[in-house]
Amino acid sequence: MNILVTGGAGYIGSHTCKALAKAGFTPISYDNLSSGHEWAVKWGPLAKGDILDRARLEEVFLQYKPSAVMHFAAYADVGESVAEPLKYYRNNVAGTLNLLEVMRDHRAVDHRRTNQRDTDAGACHHVQSQSACSDRRVGTRRPVRE
Ligand SMILES: NC(=O)c1ccc[n+]([C@@H]2O[C@H](COP(=O)([O-])OP(=O)(O)OC[C@H]3O[C@@H](n4cnc5c(N)ncnc54)[C@H](O)[C@@H]3O)[C@@H](O)[C@H]2O)c1
Repeated sequence: MNILVTGGAGYIGSHTCKALAKAGFTPISYDNLSSGHEWAVKWGPLAKGDILDRARLEEVFLQYKPSAVMHFAAYADVGESVAEPLKYYRNNVAGTLNLLEVMRDHRAVDHRRTNQRDTDAGACHHVQSQSACSDRRVGTRRPVRE
């Protein structure tokens, strides 16, 4: 079963790929290598691409037909995110929306082609995402609720 791992060439993503392969899944790393490393992709294929590039995402979905997505592609430097918030919103927020839309559209494409239900092969509607607490609202209550 193919699992698309965005940010699969990064720290968290590459370890996730290792665990996925050990569990019998095939991790497909989707990464633009902006901070990740090609050498870190060892447990499945690397599909170079950007989560902001909808056409490329669509191409990779059609090629690998992932059953689920684990989403780790992000900028993750807390200091820089404060200095350049728009850069972070574009990549992390707009990129995530883009990914979710492609997942939705991919499912729609498969439905039209095969007349199958969501649960059938080719439909991708499971997503798991990792984010740091730096993207949550700063408040007075501790601990910060998920
Ligand atoms: N490292 C930690 O300890 C930690 C802890 C909690 C949460 N997180 C969160 O996990 C996520 C990943 O963190 P990390 O430490 O692995 O960072 P990382 O920089 O090592 O990995 C991020 C990966 O995403 C890729 N990437 C970035 N923007 C992309 C884009 N537009 N399209 C495609 N690929 C893109 C980078 O090339 C890189 O390989 C972040 O959301 C981070 O906040 C990390």
